[in-house]
Amino acid sequence: MQSRFGGSGARRAGLLAAALPLLLAPALARAQGADAAAGRAKVEAACAACHGANGVSVADNIPNLAGQKAAYLENQLRALKSGARRNAVMGAVAAQLSPQDIANVAAYFASLPGASMAGAKSALLPGLAKTSVTLPADHRKTFIMYQTVNRPDINQVRYLYANDVALRAAREGRPLPDGSHLVLEQHAARLDADRKPIVGPDGFFVADRLVNYAVMERGAGWGRDIPENIRNEDWQYAVYAPTRELRTTVNQAECLACHKPLDKDSFTFSIKALTEAAKKR
Ligand code: HEC
Ligand code: HEC
Repeated sequence: MQSRFGGSGARRAGLLAAALPLLLAPALARAQGADAAAGRAKVEAACAACHGANGVSVADNIPNLAGQKAAYLENQLRALKSGARRNAVMGAVAAQLSPQDIANVAAYFASLPGASMAGAKSALLPGLAKTSVTLPADHRKTFIMYQTVNRPDINQVRYLYANDVALRAAREGRPLPDGSHLVLEQHAARLDADRKPIVGPDGFFVADRLVNYAVMERGAGWGRDIPENIRNEDWQYAVYAPTRELRTTVNQAECLACHKPLDKDSFTFSIKALTEAAKKR
């Protein structure tokens, strides 16, 4: 005797086919909404500077995304976009992604084979590895120091310097033009016995040792080779060691991404202090 559902093989297949759309509905909804090819184009234009076009990142502080699950990537991107997950560099990038972009890039990264070698890294994009930014010959004499910043999070004190071109524009309330040149000296703070920074009479940490010169400078056409989603008009960035050597492992993309949201302030965090100092001169 045949069971109620015995019937023919064809009939059973028909039942299954009828049930399939229901069973797979959530997965299909994602697959239909996501376009991995469009995701690839977006990744090459907007993510490769840090995560590599193949999802293997360029640096140890940037995660590999190749082979990661699409649902996880989408959730993280939504959280980074909304601010629920906070990261200044990636937040600025995620803010520019539409829900469709998020589905597409997640599908693309998920389709890639994971990084096969431990420690594998993608090369820096040529346009970002190169920098036009120079360390001025004698900024302590020829620039104006316009702000001091304590950084208790990393036990540093920082001195910010600007050249005449930047100061003049700031005084007149104009955006900082080509030729503007800003130097941020990073000093490790002197620590007391409890490894707390020692505060000087001026309220700022006492500088112990110069660590880096972080420099930003603006020149005609300098933004040309920079990916659009992180471009700071014609500003570029560089880090120089205390020996005045360029630090070639620095990924300019991270500087650009974190300063990008300050587009109304000439991409500088310190525009207010710069303007006040310029007006006092
Ligand atoms: C300027 C460098 C930079 C660019 C460009 C960039 N990212 Fe990121 N991304 C980061 C950094 C740094 C992190 C780690 C953030 C953290 O530590 O919370 C990150 C984290 C992520 C994460 C979370 C990964 C995880 O394991 O949780 C995702 C997803 C992501 N990025 C996707 C993208 C996509 C998509 C793009 C291009 C549209 C992109 N990123 C472009 C630097 C970048
Ligand atoms: C995570 C965000 C972030 C990243 C990444 C970043 N900056 Fe900044 N930058 C800041 C903040 C915040 C300030 C304000 C001073 C301070 O807090 O140290 C600043 C200030 C500066 C200034 C002084 C002018 C201004 O904007 O106020 C220079 C020059 C500068 N950064 C250069 C760089 C360079 C070069 C890099 C890349 C190696 C870089 N920055 C990467 C956040 C960032």
